Amino acid sequence: MATEEPHVKVEKLVKVYGDRTVLHGVDVTIDRADTLVFIGGSGAGKSTLVRHLIALERPTSGRIVVDGVDIASLNDVELNKARRRFGMVFQKYALFDSMTNFDNVAFPLREQTKLSERDIRERAMAKLKDLGVEHAAKLTPAQISGGMAKRVGIARALVMEPELLIYDEPTSGLDPVTSRTVDDLIEEMREKFGVTSVVITHDMVSAFDIADQIAMLIRGRVVAQGTPAEVLAVDNEDVQKFIRASGVEASRLATRRPRKDSRALAAVARARAPRGG
Ligand SMILES: Nc1ncnc2c1ncn2[C@@H]1O[C@H](COP(=O)(O)OP(=O)(O)OP(=O)(O)O)[C@@H](O)[C@H]1O
Ligand SMILES: [Mg+2]
Repeated sequence: MATEEPHVKVEKLVKVYGDRTVLHGVDVTIDRADTLVFIGGSGAGKSTLVRHLIALERPTSGRIVVDGVDIASLNDVELNKARRRFGMVFQKYALFDSMTNFDNVAFPLREQTKLSERDIRERAMAKLKDLGVEHAAKLTPAQISGGMAKRVGIARALVMEPELLIYDEPTSGLDPVTSRTVDDLIEEMREKFGVTSVVITHDMVSAFDIADQIAMLIRGRVVAQGTPAEVLAVDNEDVQKFIRASGVEASRLATRRPRKDSRALAAVARARAPRGG
């Protein structure tokens, strides 16, 4: 069993839109059951990059290898199957306005599983409850605040309990207390199910709290990847400028929550996976 193979490997990823190169040959490796946090300025290419991880975009060149398979090489049927193992919390939560919040969360279960309506109800309500929005189950996304809609979007991504979860700015627009709840949930998915998480955030408290690895993207290039301590110490003026501007100090690391070992959690994830990884 290739236990040490990374869960996700991005190799020389280039993305060009028209005459604009948005990603200039990005290399990133994500180990199973790790949380990788992308930081970087607005327009750096973070959202574009993560959309490639779940094949919502095709690379101009380069490879995205998930569980040893280049996802750009998959046909539509294979891709649909693979997508069931991925979840994404979109930056602009992308909920269906015509449905209630409950139906939004139940949607992937109805589309992709054969669960009974009763089980679906139970699971979807449990996730809404985890996110503290069960009272909004019968309302539509248009009838709740942005922060609540964000939480419904997170509930929808978590309800399938995917192996790879991508969160595009999950805490933006949330109050500090709710933001920490979201951090707890990201950590809980990792600890309970060995989920591999990729998180984009401008929230540096969150970044330094939940990350096993931090990757910094500047103008379509990864300029640093390492543990939070490594990134804090990296000898790169752009990185240091960004960290200084965010107000994060080295002392932040001292208050970081203790983390469970990714390797042990990876074993949990492999046991759940439909095929070995
Ligand atoms: N479909 C597209 N067509 C053309 N240009 C695009 C497309 N998607 C993204 N871009 C461009 O790619 C660049 C990177 O965008 P992206 O959304 O990935 O940035 P980001 O790092 O997520 O920024 P933010 O922190 O503001 O969310 C931007 O200049 C954007 O205009
Ligand atoms: Mg973005």
